[in-house]
Amino acid sequence: MKTTLTKIKKEKPDFGALGFCKYFSDHMLVMDYKNGAWQEPEIMPYGAFELNPATSSLHYGQGIFEGLKAYKNNGKVTLFRPRDNFVRMNKSANRLCIPEIDVDLVLNSLIELIKLEEDWIPEGGGRSLYIRPFIFATDNVLGVASASNYRFAIILSPVGSYYAGGLKPTRILVEEHFVRASIGGTGEAKCIGNYAASLFAGNLAKAKGYDQVMWLDSSEHLFVEEVGSMNMFFVEKGKVKTPSLVGSILPGITRDSAIKLLTAKGIKVEETRISIKKVAKGINSGALTEAFGTGTAAVISPVGTLGYQGKDLVIGNNEMGEISSWLYDELTGIQCGIKEDKFGWVMHLN
Ligand code: COI
Repeated sequence: MKTTLTKIKKEKPDFGALGFCKYFSDHMLVMDYKNGAWQEPEIMPYGAFELNPATSSLHYGQGIFEGLKAYKNNGKVTLFRPRDNFVRMNKSANRLCIPEIDVDLVLNSLIELIKLEEDWIPEGGGRSLYIRPFIFATDNVLGVASASNYRFAIILSPVGSYYAGGLKPTRILVEEHFVRASIGGTGEAKCIGNYAASLFAGNLAKAKGYDQVMWLDSSEHLFVEEVGSMNMFFVEKGKVKTPSLVGSILPGITRDSAIKLLTAKGIKVEETRISIKKVAKGINSGALTEAFGTGTAAVISPVGTLGYQGKDLVIGNNEMGEISSWLYDELTGIQCGIKEDKFGWVMHLN
């Protein structure tokens, strides 16, 4: 792989006040697709891309991305299930008519990039280096067609908590009118258009004082799908439930990890259709004691308030519940190499 090092290294931001993806490391990885093949990947100084105004992805949204993290604990660097992200990226690629990438090649290239940027990985306090692989179509023609040229790139950003409040339970608004995705659409692909489509309702929710929107199914507006950037879990009478992957829901890698960790602990997780009416009923009766979201960026994020039909329903006294806290500690412990990795999810880089 070709590597061109930067002449000027950036000053590091204050790792104690990072927020989410506001700063980017010194180098990035770029790999282009042309003449029917992915070319050799290249590590180069982080910098702007030059884009023709007719770049097709800017017009028709043929683009996908992934999100994963590198962790550092006592100088030891780990990645969590990185292969799964690139396997999922190929599923998204297929749905968006983008040529598949060579999973081993991009994984090895990522490892080289992370080793080069090791001092950009913040240590402790829930901090990590967020890794953003993405692919976008780069044809310079405006006919609506799948492109013949693409760019794959990986950029890196040291991050703290996704939500400004950290682990403080979030306020989520149930959206009964707008939908994120429908069966047969692109909901289960990690494509850029899904996120654009979510902004309008997200902004309305934020204006009302909520953090994000809870999406319901597109045909009946009755069943929970996912929340903004997270998959959802509910704990009712000690049983854990999460919406089944019906085709319009992102198959989260953190979601899958949560299911496996809970199951291994002897807590049964049911993947099923979850009626929002029953969720509201469970909160009101006190039977539903915890709700939390899972995601690479959000990790395990408790939901303290659900805005539903004009009322704010408070879950578990607006405190992080026992199961969510256990899962957060277990997952983050495994991710940064402190807790035993029974599933073989962690890749050690040094
Ligand atoms: C992630 O958790 O990596 C995501 O993709 C969410 C992102 C849109 C911030």
